[in-house]
Amino acid sequence: MFVSECLKVNKANHLEIGGCDCVELAKEYGTPLYVMDEGLIRNYCRIYKNSMDKYYGGNGLVLYASKAFCTLYMCKILQEEGLGVDVVSGGELYTALKAEFPVEKIYFHGNNKTYDELMLAVQNDIGRIVVDNKYELGLLNDIASKLNKKVKILFRIKPGVEAHTHDFIQTGQIDSKFGVALETGEAMEIVQEAINLSNIELVGLHCHIGSQIFDLDPFKLAAKVMMNFIGDIKDKFGLEIKELNLGGGYGIKYVPEHDPIQYDSYIEAVSKVVKEIAAQRGVQLPFILMEPGRSIVAPAGITLYTVGAVKDIPNVRKYVSVDGGMGDNPRYILYQSEYDAVLANRPQDEKTEKITIAGKCCESGDLLIKDIMMPEIKPGDYLAVLATGGYNYSMASNYNRIPRPPVVMVKDGQSKVVVKRETYEDIIKNDII
Ligand code: LLP
Repeated sequence: MFVSECLKVNKANHLEIGGCDCVELAKEYGTPLYVMDEGLIRNYCRIYKNSMDKYYGGNGLVLYASKAFCTLYMCKILQEEGLGVDVVSGGELYTALKAEFPVEKIYFHGNNKTYDELMLAVQNDIGRIVVDNKYELGLLNDIASKLNKKVKILFRIKPGVEAHTHDFIQTGQIDSKFGVALETGEAMEIVQEAINLSNIELVGLHCHIGSQIFDLDPFKLAAKVMMNFIGDIKDKFGLEIKELNLGGGYGIKYVPEHDPIQYDSYIEAVSKVVKEIAAQRGVQLPFILMEPGRSIVAPAGITLYTVGAVKDIPNVRKYVSVDGGMGDNPRYILYQSEYDAVLANRPQDEKTEKITIAGKCCESGDLLIKDIMMPEIKPGDYLAVLATGGYNYSMASNYNRIPRPPVVMVKDGQSKVVVKRETYEDIIKNDII
């Protein structure tokens, strides 16, 4: 009935998530409110982890891409579920370290890691650094020699695979700020350079072809391209590449028309390709990593809002404004992303009119959903926007000095705040007169 499997309608005829009544949650914690179903997050972690065991003999590790949603509590869930974590900034790394996440399972990405970020990573002996470019390789080698350490790295490679998705989140082609290209020879050059550095150990390769992808073929193609490059490296330098990180990007259902692939089919499909090419090229089977972000958290989250002004412009459009918007969910204004919504206090009412759900920021483009069929909505209704668990809280801002909403985790009818609501005091806390 709903795009997210975590939702149902309870006896009070209210929307329910993780055994909790959404109207009660809205009343207890206020709105806007991010709510996430912890049971479902854990379930998704297990699907990925089990498929690695089933299809690749457990010779791999699922890393969660923490950019999708990163908090101390999320790190705790991941640790308990036996996943690793991918971080892309000093802030994400710091969060994982503060959560006492096992350092060997932290992978550090990014196209322009700073000296201080790399220093923090090396000092803390994190698992791997995914080196993006030659400048970073030099910087990292200097830091490692200063600290008298040998650092294990992967290289970020552009496999040149096109995945069908929004331009902004397409990263596999040559014209991308991420990684080194195969076609130009840059990738082979950087491998050679790493081999000659005394404080660097090249253990693996990484690629990430895009996000919100619904098709298995680009993943299979990327695996093939990467495995052949592993073969080329062995032929040229006699070096066995031990790890292959195939990134994330698995699509989810935001609206009923979306038809995502079963999560376990990704590992099934790429395992087959990896095994085939390893045999063909005479290279050892690599330890495989994959990095789902969105697909672990997005379907498990909703955002609850209170409806305010309703503005009907005859023959033009009916705007229903809520008490949040682009500050807590910038994905419409950035990517014109699609979402589905439900009235939390009347989820089964018939959808009789086409409306546009607007935020409260001073921007005409601050919409959450354009043209959605909904029941007639009145001020004071509670509106749930669905599948907001990924890239919402993590991309939220204080535009218009609006405090960011709290995050509440729900599980088995219990709720728990894992990120507090910001206050006006928080908003001015770094200001100096
Ligand atoms: N690994 C790497 C190296 C990545 O760059 C990303 C996402 C992931 C893994 C996780 O991809 P996922 O499984 O979440 O699709 N802000 C955009 C998404 C940007 C994704 C960037 N990289 C959005 O809201 O759609």
